[in-house]
Amino acid sequence: MPEPLLDVRDLRVSFRTRQGSVTAVDRLSFSVAPGEILGVVGESGSGKSVSMLAVLRLLTNPNVTVSGEVRFRGRDLLALPDKEMRAVRGREIAMVFQDPMTALTPVYTVGWQIAEQIRAHDRVSRREARARAVRLLSDVGIPDAASRVNAYPHEFSGGMRQRAVIAMALSCDPALLIADEPTTALDVTVQAQILDLMRELNGRGSAVVLITHDMGVISQIADRVLVMYGGRAAEEGPRRAVFHGPRHPYTWGLLDSVPRVGGARLRRLPTIAGVPVSPGALPPGCAFAPRCRLRHDRCAELPALAAGNGDAGHRDACWLPPDDRGSLRLTARAAATERPGTGPDMEKEATA
Ligand SMILES: Nc1ncnc2c1ncn2[C@@H]1O[C@H](COP(=O)(O)OP(=O)(O)OP(=O)(O)O)[C@@H](O)[C@H]1O
Ligand code: SF4
Ligand SMILES: [Mg+2]
Repeated sequence: MPEPLLDVRDLRVSFRTRQGSVTAVDRLSFSVAPGEILGVVGESGSGKSVSMLAVLRLLTNPNVTVSGEVRFRGRDLLALPDKEMRAVRGREIAMVFQDPMTALTPVYTVGWQIAEQIRAHDRVSRREARARAVRLLSDVGIPDAASRVNAYPHEFSGGMRQRAVIAMALSCDPALLIADEPTTALDVTVQAQILDLMRELNGRGSAVVLITHDMGVISQIADRVLVMYGGRAAEEGPRRAVFHGPRHPYTWGLLDSVPRVGGARLRRLPTIAGVPVSPGALPPGCAFAPRCRLRHDRCAELPALAAGNGDAGHRDACWLPPDDRGSLRLTARAAATERPGTGPDMEKEATA
């Protein structure tokens, strides 16, 4: 196994709120190998963005506490002086967020912003930086880049703005790109083009952490998958293993709620019953327990992320016996299709 590029250990993020302390990310550990694409998936509020913002030290709110270890190329980012961290963010780790306007300033032209980004880490003249900006815009498929370089962000469409942000990311040839829902706001064709750009960047050697709600996107692009639930890792493993032999009941629910195109159609599409857990109200044991059809006494205790009996690189946090997962998945699925819309807690409420 190559030395990981990014190795996150026991990351914990808490917010001080009026209702008390809320733990949004709880002892999250994961790693990214050089050149690898890690897909991070999970429902809204599962801690995907907060964990990546913590990795990048972008949670500046005084009410936030971050602990754990974030090793990147051998350094602990959480312990790095601010100046060095800024240099890491500019030169070695690039970011692309869902809303490209968060990365672009409305009052400067797109070209100026890309050129400044280039000059922040390369000693080149303004003229050379600008020429490079034109080339980059052209590389990401902006037509007539030589004149569009003078446009302001509001003169670009949403897809073009996202390309411009990716051009900024490309400008520093980052060892790691963290992309948080980069295609959610875009139509399907532009989504596919942006994913192609990510692949291209990856082809040049950059590792990518891609956050998305979309299991379809993960299945197309990721080498490995991290499934998050309630601020914790529910399952982590190689893409093929997670898609062909998913181990955690929450992952089963995610995969079963993906519409099948051209495949066997279920009479009713199962959805994951119940509501996502709120970080202020995590149950003491497994966070998925209130929605899990297979919960049992042991689930009141917190399961650790551990490998089953097979591949050491495929881990999950669940108390079910490792060897029976395949048949248990069918049992859970049958229960979901028989009585859609009822989860364990809903059934309890109905009989209360
Ligand atoms: N400043 C804050 N103060 C208190 N709680 C916060 C704050 N920022 C985020 N949270 C909480 O942390 C949890 C995780 O949020 P996060 O944004 O990481 O979710 P996410 O998985 O990225 O969801 P989405 O898919 O909707 O983007 C949420 O429950 C959110 O309410
Ligand atoms: S630990 Fe228990 S409640 Fe949690 S996913 Fe596994 S069976 Fe379900
Ligand atoms: Mg998010």
